[in-house]
Amino acid sequence: MKNAYVHGYNQRENIRLQDQASTLVDLLHSDTTFPAGSSVLEAGCGVGAQTITLAKNNPDAVITSIDISEISLEEARQKAASEKITNVTFQQADIFNLSFEPHSFDHIFVCFVLEHLSNPVEALAILKKFIRPGGTITVIEGDHGSAYFYPNRKAANTVIQCLVELQKKGGGNAMIGRELYPLLVKAGYQSVNVSPRMVYADASKPEMVEGFTKNTFTAMIEGIRESSLNSGLIDEKIFNQGIKALYRTAEHDGVFCYTFFKAVATCG
Ligand SMILES: C[S@@+](CC[C@H](N)C(=O)[O-])C[C@H]1O[C@@H](n2cnc3c(N)ncnc32)[C@H](O)[C@@H]1O
Repeated sequence: MKNAYVHGYNQRENIRLQDQASTLVDLLHSDTTFPAGSSVLEAGCGVGAQTITLAKNNPDAVITSIDISEISLEEARQKAASEKITNVTFQQADIFNLSFEPHSFDHIFVCFVLEHLSNPVEALAILKKFIRPGGTITVIEGDHGSAYFYPNRKAANTVIQCLVELQKKGGGNAMIGRELYPLLVKAGYQSVNVSPRMVYADASKPEMVEGFTKNTFTAMIEGIRESSLNSGLIDEKIFNQGIKALYRTAEHDGVFCYTFFKAVATCG
């Protein structure tokens, strides 16, 4: 079953996904390494923001990256070519209708995809069929309920909640990070191991303030302006105040915290 992708497929969102990926590269990828010769499926690769790191960190793995959006895949292909990546094949495919042979991958990698699906357990269970016995899945998701910051302004919380509600209306779940353990268990995986990864940004870490607070998180909320106002979930004045309050956390005395959740589980 497909969902409306709340962030849309536009150039600004593509840049945000790249910013997100490059800022979070160590936090999210440092412990994802596959043995030489492994076959890896990246499900929902989008514009390839994670693909490049996966491919560079695992030059001897054979990676197949799929996405439902041909437009995103074209961008991903161009990015991979410009980075001289040779161990990735991109394919248009729907997670819910895959034509690979059962058990054909040693490992599956899924990042920031489940949050957009109304049936994440079904997606995980389907993916499981394509992992060889003893193979693994890695799942990374955020959780917008984990965002806290200084100054703690009501409008900032309201505008974040607006994204949570909007995503819920579209069938997704912006607070799915905390559910990775039960979702993977329900989908039949074993040895599920979840590790929370906190991003912390203050003025002593200007690259995190720019890369995460402003260009990843606040840019994501700014990106839902039109759909939020059209949905009637929030009025323009509060929306603007919320965005201003989020940018305020990026000033000299501001602080921003957010937690991602990374799960690794095995397929029996
Ligand atoms: C937020 S993007 C994440 C992209 C990438 N994993 C990253 O971390 O930058 C979510 C992606 O999932 C893709 N997607 C959503 N539903 C899908 C489905 N049923 N099958 C394949 N891809 C899907 C969307 O097209 C979108 O590119």
